[in-house]
Amino acid sequence: MKFTVLSLFPEILEGYFSASIMKRAVEKGMIQYSLVNIRDFAYDKHHKCDDEVFGGGAGMLMKPEPLDRALASAGSPGVRTVYVTPSGRLLNQAMAQDLAREEQLVILCGRYEGVDQRIIDTRVTDEISIGDYVLSSGEVAAMVLIDAVYRLHPGVISGESLTEESFSDGLLEYPQYTRPAVYATMQVPDVLLSGNHAQIARWRLKASLAKTVAYRPELLARTDLPEAVGRLLKELIDEGGLNERTAVHTGRTDQE
Ligand code: ADE
Repeated sequence: MKFTVLSLFPEILEGYFSASIMKRAVEKGMIQYSLVNIRDFAYDKHHKCDDEVFGGGAGMLMKPEPLDRALASAGSPGVRTVYVTPSGRLLNQAMAQDLAREEQLVILCGRYEGVDQRIIDTRVTDEISIGDYVLSSGEVAAMVLIDAVYRLHPGVISGESLTEESFSDGLLEYPQYTRPAVYATMQVPDVLLSGNHAQIARWRLKASLAKTVAYRPELLARTDLPEAVGRLLKELIDEGGLNERTAVHTGRTDQE
């Protein structure tokens, strides 16, 4: 899978592609990347890439000409072309999975107040926001998007790690523990030391549910909630211990 990132500050992304799991994926040839400096496509003497906004208003906008040339050189809009912007659709795991099926992704990073709408209309296929807050640069958002996508590419991370993590089944991930079994008087739940895989799976699902109820209850408002999950949810409610349980699993109390 290839990522082509268009930016006025491509050096921000260089470190990201050169470290850790991404570095290994690049070395193994699973991931390719190309960082394109939009300024290289501004042909005037000063390589100007921004200008004032028609109709007035604070800040500058990225000019269409350099962007148009840079995006055309990257193959847009023939390739899936994402513009990362706070006014896009909110990124979620399903979108990341969808994007991970592409052979190639072009990602446009905005600066200033954003980009001329004509570029979005003609060259961009997806406008994506990484959250309901405004960052000072699209580069950070692009790294978040790339990270959510590339790790789903076959071979980058083991399938088991992917299926067990938060959101893979629409719930937040259950709490996890490692050695020692007792640390500063805090004990790992007995069931996790029992070796009983069925009971462990049940405990984990229930803990996932309790955490999801506490932090992200809207995730449970689905009509396709598996029956087993619905039963466990009812069990949690019947036990009347949702809040206490949640306090146990999240390390917080309701008073906090
Ligand atoms: N650029 C600035 N803020 C952003 C956000 N929240 N998502 C995507 N791109 C952005």
